Amino acid sequence: MKGIVLAGGSGTRLYPLTHAVSKHLLPVYNKPMIYYPLSVLMLGGIKEILVISTPSHVGLFRGLLGDGSQLGLSIEYAEQSRANGIAEAFVIGEKFIGDDSVALILGDNIFHGPGLSGLLSDQCENVDGCVLFGYAVKDPERYGVGETDGRGELVSLEEKPVRPRSNLAITGLYLYDNGVVDIAREVRPSARGELEITDVNRVYLRQGRAKMVDLGRGFAWLDTGTHDSLLQAGQYIQVLEERQGVRIACLEEIAFRMGFIDSAACYELGGRLGKTDYGAYLMAIASADH
Ligand code: TTP
Repeated sequence: MKGIVLAGGSGTRLYPLTHAVSKHLLPVYNKPMIYYPLSVLMLGGIKEILVISTPSHVGLFRGLLGDGSQLGLSIEYAEQSRANGIAEAFVIGEKFIGDDSVALILGDNIFHGPGLSGLLSDQCENVDGCVLFGYAVKDPERYGVGETDGRGELVSLEEKPVRPRSNLAITGLYLYDNGVVDIAREVRPSARGELEITDVNRVYLRQGRAKMVDLGRGFAWLDTGTHDSLLQAGQYIQVLEERQGVRIACLEEIAFRMGFIDSAACYELGGRLGKTDYGAYLMAIASADH
């Protein structure tokens, strides 16, 4: 399975922070925002990743993550000229996806919870149709909302409904079989001129090939789109990391624990971070493995 991180858009709700900088490079406590969605793909065992961003920002992501080889990954980059909609990722990424299935994650989505790695690797195996992830929220009318039957099959999908049929918001992580490329090509732009991901998901729903997994209340799915929610997300990460002494979305640690790099490489990556606690943490976990 291939992975795409969609990190374009304009971040208008975060102005003036995002006038010159991509939202996805802003700090969420001690690391750039994009580390969090990238870590999710890595936890699913995905090593071939495409990062899509705006023409003016894509070089910054390349500067941050390079070709990914230091993490045992292969990272490519592509541009989205303007915010033409989430589903455009499959049109832009067509060549990259090739004959594979694909996971798409929005670059501003943070997921944290027990068993994420197992859940993702299970779901990423043999995707037939699409798999969406639902999360209970108190204000479902602000989101795409999914309703399932007892077996997790999606039975309805509504976009920002006035009277939601469930409280499960569709999160920004989507798994698809290879058919998604053709479906995204056929979808017509919405009234706002965007290729809507909901329209793609509706095609799978009509085919009876859409599934939704409820992440459950033990999970955190955090928003980072406004000044307050960005600060709160940083505080959430800070509180948990401080309390538990472990790091969330630490890409080097995940690469090491997933077996993408060995302990010597992890140690070296830690050393490159100089005198930071982050670097010391990496060197300590790499040393503990000897
Ligand atoms: P949004 O939050 O819808 O948009 P935005 O990030 O530009 O922010 P704002 O509403 O403040 O203007 O986007 C959700 C995520 O999806 C975000 O990570 C950006 C990404 N995105 C794209 O990369 N391209 C797109 O065409 C769209 C619609 C979103």
